[in-house]
Amino acid sequence: MNFPFDITKILNLDSDDFAIFTANDLPKNTMYFGPNNPKKTRPEQLTFLIDEIGHASSHSQGLSTTITTYSRFIYSNHKLFIKFDDNKMIGFIKIGTKNLIYNDWQGKMKELAPLCVLDFYVHESVQRHGFGKLIFEKMLQSENIEPWKVAIDKPSGKFLGFLLKHYGLKNYRSQTNNFVIFDAFFETDALKIEQMKIKFLTKNEQNFKMHKTEVESSKKENKEELNLLVAEFERKNQLEQKKSRKKCDNFEVEVLL
Ligand code: ACO
Repeated sequence: MNFPFDITKILNLDSDDFAIFTANDLPKNTMYFGPNNPKKTRPEQLTFLIDEIGHASSHSQGLSTTITTYSRFIYSNHKLFIKFDDNKMIGFIKIGTKNLIYNDWQGKMKELAPLCVLDFYVHESVQRHGFGKLIFEKMLQSENIEPWKVAIDKPSGKFLGFLLKHYGLKNYRSQTNNFVIFDAFFETDALKIEQMKIKFLTKNEQNFKMHKTEVESSKKENKEELNLLVAEFERKNQLEQKKSRKKCDNFEVEVLL
């Protein structure tokens, strides 16, 4: 997709020819340019560019409305990553955080605020050439996020195929809001919690065993004193275990909610 103006004059491109920006980087232009957009000033050209790529994406997905438009974008918390090559748009991805009520893989209802992919498009002439992966990876890297931690707004069949091929993401529960969160999103959290538990509890157990051996090998003549010391260590250990469990629970709440 080519543009009748120099895109480097209206957007900053990084060394990989990506323009990455949010609404804060754009002029708050409320004028409607429509089909007669003169494309002369920066706001006019930005409006044209975002409306054009948004239209191409929706057309490609067979949607009746355009998801990405300049007028919507400038009043959103969304972020756009557009890949260019020599003044041509290769593809783009639009992301944003959404509050979602979601049933996880165990059927538990959760309130989540994940990073979501809201629009994703590679120009028809270069689809299946690895550009989708390049754009998706750029986004993951920039947001410092794993692919399974991203939610997808109504993914198309092509996008589902893409996620399976490149990231092995397959299983999810269908939701009424049409957002897809892969089971791995929750499984990795459960795994992290298990690892934390093992870490906390093993540490305490090891401490306790160490102290007990210390006491037992201290050759105390007085059996009573020895028993008191063991009881004291046991009490301390129980307290530690309780603290660890609380820490694990808090962690669980923090991670899962
Ligand atoms: N049919 C089936 N699978 C496809 C197709 C297709 N026409 N095109 C891409 N894929 C999947 C396949 O798994 C493919 O691997 P394969 O060629 O070995 O079968 C893989 O994606 C290719 O990976 P890339 O080359 O890195 O991806 P590409 O550059 O094609 O970009 C994208 C993927 C963005 C989904 C692109 O196909 C596209 O723009 N499709 C039309 C628009 C669309 O459906 N966007 C997602 C809408 S949902 C949303 O945005 C939240």
